[in-house]
Amino acid sequence: MLACRFTGAGYLAAGLNVVRPKGSDYTCAILTKRRAMHNANIVEFSHVAFAYGSNRIFSDVNLTIPRGKVVGIMGASGSGKTTLMRLMGGQLQPQSGNVTVMGRVVNDLGRDELFALRRKMGMQFQQGGLFTDLSVFENLAFPMREKTRLPEDMISDLVLMKLNAVGLRGAADLMPSELSGGMARRVGLARAIALDPELIMYDEPFAGLDPISCNVIGNLIRTLNDALGVTSIVVSYDAVESLKVVDYVYFIADGVVAAEGPTAEVKDSQDPFVRQFVRGEPDGPVPFHYPSDPYGADLEVI
Ligand SMILES: Nc1ncnc2c1ncn2[C@@H]1O[C@H](COP(=O)(O)OP(=O)(O)OP(=O)(O)O)[C@@H](O)[C@H]1O
Ligand SMILES: [Mg+2]
Repeated sequence: MLACRFTGAGYLAAGLNVVRPKGSDYTCAILTKRRAMHNANIVEFSHVAFAYGSNRIFSDVNLTIPRGKVVGIMGASGSGKTTLMRLMGGQLQPQSGNVTVMGRVVNDLGRDELFALRRKMGMQFQQGGLFTDLSVFENLAFPMREKTRLPEDMISDLVLMKLNAVGLRGAADLMPSELSGGMARRVGLARAIALDPELIMYDEPFAGLDPISCNVIGNLIRTLNDALGVTSIVVSYDAVESLKVVDYVYFIADGVVAAEGPTAEVKDSQDPFVRQFVRGEPDGPVPFHYPSDPYGADLEVI
């Protein structure tokens, strides 16, 4: 079963030129099973409310993520996109409502069940999340050693396979401090797929990258999703780059889903909020300022 999860068949299908791990079973049973389940939702938020202390982030969020799709979750900085990901991963608990992932209500799970569920989720973190004292190779090998009992030679092959998929096999021996921002993002992506997850979450995958690197990352997200038969969630404020790869978009604002729709419809939307976001216009319903007391009061001039 475990060997089958590490088939590499999807990588080959995508023309990603993988190394065949020694001793692994190359059947495609898992991929076939995944594709057969595509009509079910992999994530559901039902009337989710959440606050950090008195700072209310979500009042009533409802959304569904169908299997097999690449879904974008967009919103202004501070609207709660990373918080939404933490709720999916069970790092945070909603005050009310339910977060269901792969049929399990995340907020009801015990520690062991939650860890088992997380094992099927890959995350690319907004802040990078690489271990600074470990090489690129070791950063990828670490979760495999922690979460599986695979022999070292297979782990080595798998690490090289994942790095090859993101074009960085040649960077295996570099330290994170020796990587450019775009390379680090790609290593983060390789690590997100290290354990062959069913659901991959990307938090701001395009932030700080040049246009070519953005395209490389966007193409990787799309190709890996379709070739591996997984589901991907792209959390981003970058509408231009996100809309090139996602199938469906949710917009978060004021603690709720403010708008949603298939990518083509979103691009042509006349809704003022969606238009402002998609076109990056400075004026519109999305405010520039974090909520605060009146400016004059802070400066004590009124
Ligand atoms: N651990 C925390 N404790 C208290 N407040 C937090 C915490 N994390 C985030 N917040 C607050 O919650 C709000 C949403 O933060 P979050 O990081 O989810 O936003 P975001 O949409 O991901 O923003 P960005 O686009 O800048 O990454 C912000 O107002 C932030 O200050
Ligand atoms: Mg964020």
